[in-house]
Amino acid sequence: MNFFFKDSKYSIVRYPTSDNKSLQAWSAADEHLLKYLSDHQALSQHPILYNDRFGFLSTVLSEFNPSTVVNFKSQEKAIELNASKNGVDLKNISKIEPLDTLSKSFDLALIKIPKSLDLFRLQLDQIHQSLNEDATVICSFMTKYFSRKTIEIAEKYFEQCEQTRAWKKSRLLILKKKKKVDPTLHINTVSIDKTKSFKQYFGVFSAKNIDYATQFFATNMDVQTTDNKILDLASGNGVLAHVALSKNPNAEIHLVDDSFLAVESSKINIDSKNAHFYFSDDLSAFQSNTFDLVISNPPFHFEFETNIEIALNLFAEVKRCLKKGGVFQLVTSNHLNLKTHLFKLFHKVKLVAQNDKFVVYHCQ
Ligand SMILES: C[S@@+](CC[C@H](N)C(=O)[O-])C[C@H]1O[C@@H](n2cnc3c(N)ncnc32)[C@H](O)[C@@H]1O
Repeated sequence: MNFFFKDSKYSIVRYPTSDNKSLQAWSAADEHLLKYLSDHQALSQHPILYNDRFGFLSTVLSEFNPSTVVNFKSQEKAIELNASKNGVDLKNISKIEPLDTLSKSFDLALIKIPKSLDLFRLQLDQIHQSLNEDATVICSFMTKYFSRKTIEIAEKYFEQCEQTRAWKKSRLLILKKKKKVDPTLHINTVSIDKTKSFKQYFGVFSAKNIDYATQFFATNMDVQTTDNKILDLASGNGVLAHVALSKNPNAEIHLVDDSFLAVESSKINIDSKNAHFYFSDDLSAFQSNTFDLVISNPPFHFEFETNIEIALNLFAEVKRCLKKGGVFQLVTSNHLNLKTHLFKLFHKVKLVAQNDKFVVYHCQ
């Protein structure tokens, strides 16, 4: 789709692509932010950007040499794709990791408020340390997703927190005059039973407890001593890899997740010399016919969107990476009705457990 800013035309696409035309590469909240910056002549060199999922702001603001915080491998690829599509030199966009201590100071931060308000806190903490005294932080959001808690969090960091009027069903929250705050540790602890707890950085899947689908899967996972090479696809904090290793401690286990904070969390939780971690949104690191067993609680929710296409693409990759006779075991919600999709890829699809919410399949 095309977008015009300061007399230039930009063509911005989603990565990965989607057949669902209602899913777009940017929202009115992003446009609102640019409109505000133009109207108030508030753009300055070197802004820092948060949650720029498909690289819309990184591309459109590239002449201002933005720094952009990369949470997801797929986000990094989207930024690279859109920069290249629009003739933007990637050297103009600096990439920052979510847990980096920032070495530069900033006058302007632009934050698309994430669904996880814990993640918002982690991000405010990261930027707060490096803001100049008269810096401005502009947060954008669609009004339907707004929660009062957002302001409560922002007020911990800034004296001045003002909301703009709504425009195209979006609003901005303008933060100024930073308060003095001590940096905090951004880690939650969740437990699967009394014997094992997991640490996870703010913003990682299922912050308050181990997800109920994961728990259901843990009790219905079948790991054999002959499963030498195991893949935990979409591994989050590493809980399923832990369950697999507890059943076969000698296995070599590979954990893949698109989220930087998830991968870093799983490194804390899985302490095994046989564990390998990948910050990746696909299985391109693996050759065909590699795994005896693939386990997954696959992703269907991305911020405020639901999308089945990403999981289906991953399943096709799983098929390629499984050894002949290898098994793919997964848990999903009942209502997703994945069986038809799985039958298109696998010869045998067995429903091995089901309760009122979730279902576990074994595919061969
Ligand atoms: C439903 S959670 C499961 C997490 C963990 N396995 C558990 O059961 O708690 C799905 C995970 O998929 C990750 N994810 C999303 N898209 C992905 C992709 N394309 N490749 C790998 N992981 C992805 C998310 O970051 C998230 O951690």
